[in-house]
Amino acid sequence: MTQKLDKSAKVISKMFTSLAPRYDLMNDVMTGFTHRHTRKFALELIGIVKGGLVLDLASGTGDFAFLLQNLMKSNTLIIGCDFSIGMLEMARHRLKTIQDVSEVNNLAFASSDINHLPFSDEIFDVCSIIYGLRNVQDPLSVLQEINRVTKPSGRFFIVESIIPDNPFIRFSLSFYFKNVVPMIASLFASNVQAYDYYFNSVEQFGTPIETLKLLKKTHWKRVTIYRLLFGSVIVYQIFKR
Ligand SMILES: C[S@@+](CC[C@H](N)C(=O)[O-])C[C@H]1O[C@@H](n2cnc3c(N)ncnc32)[C@H](O)[C@@H]1O
Repeated sequence: MTQKLDKSAKVISKMFTSLAPRYDLMNDVMTGFTHRHTRKFALELIGIVKGGLVLDLASGTGDFAFLLQNLMKSNTLIIGCDFSIGMLEMARHRLKTIQDVSEVNNLAFASSDINHLPFSDEIFDVCSIIYGLRNVQDPLSVLQEINRVTKPSGRFFIVESIIPDNPFIRFSLSFYFKNVVPMIASLFASNVQAYDYYFNSVEQFGTPIETLKLLKKTHWKRVTIYRLLFGSVIVYQIFKR
């Protein structure tokens, strides 16, 4: 096991800003486009939330927020929220490009640390955090804060990479991320070291049992878990009540 990762706001936001220009491309290349399948799966679970408010936390370049917008059209207000200036710039640039050719006015991106959300209590119908939770320093505090802003009737979705239980798949993934991904990153990305962070952060993130304990401690109620892509991705659908 590697040294405990520094997940302070300064280090994490700076790292993602350095990754931002090539983040979407690297996501496609590194995962062989499979991340699109997991996003689609989560999107189908969420479904259309008519006339509601949706919050996508740690929204990065906005990939999932745009999918939510595309699904819900103008019925719903969608807010993406992240603290990396670079990731937010990519999201806002993409939003502006879309706004120039269509009338997308129900999507916005807010700059905020998700430990301290600039929103009132119990206003969101749905909250999501896609490949974000393992990057935060204090998941307990983040889960508490998300619970605060979610309506009593609301739902919360987590999508996260996870170490698969099957030893063969675990070995293959570890080999791929430790040996092949750095080579791919050296071709496409400017900050190659950041791709070591990816697999280390997956290894150091808690087990599903630990995540369930955190959810219980932060007063989330019913949870359904789905394992995708040979157990390498986990999706939680969580109800506040
Ligand atoms: C792996 S990216 C995922 C981005 C996006 N959700 C996606 O699906 O592509 C993780 C994101 O979490 C953000 N992040 C990590 N900790 C955060 C925090 N405490 N507050 C706000 N954003 C955070 C990073 O800036 C980064 O954009």
